[in-house]
Amino acid sequence: MATWIKITEIENVPSMGARKVEIGETEIAIFKTKDGSIFALENSCPHKNGKLSEGLIHEHKVTCPLHNLDLNLKDGQALEENGGCTKVFDTKIENNIIYILF
Ligand code: FES
Repeated sequence: MATWIKITEIENVPSMGARKVEIGETEIAIFKTKDGSIFALENSCPHKNGKLSEGLIHEHKVTCPLHNLDLNLKDGQALEENGGCTKVFDTKIENNIIYILF
């Protein structure tokens, strides 16, 4: 059963940046967009496992640092036909702390 896992204070994720966390064997990238929205995706591009936490963030998208595939941060879908999809985790903020449903 999925449970909410406490990650970090919201200010510990840079605006237009990402922070990498590990839960068990899973590496997760927590993103903060320019408008302050928080997203959590598995830190692995569906193309060839590029580290999305090192990608460029723009609007609600991340561009993979390896071969520039754009992914939607909301649903993890590649913005290219047959580009694949990365797992997305639900997030919530409580008392300035980010939690993800894992
Ligand atoms: S590994 Fe992400 S675009 Fe190739």
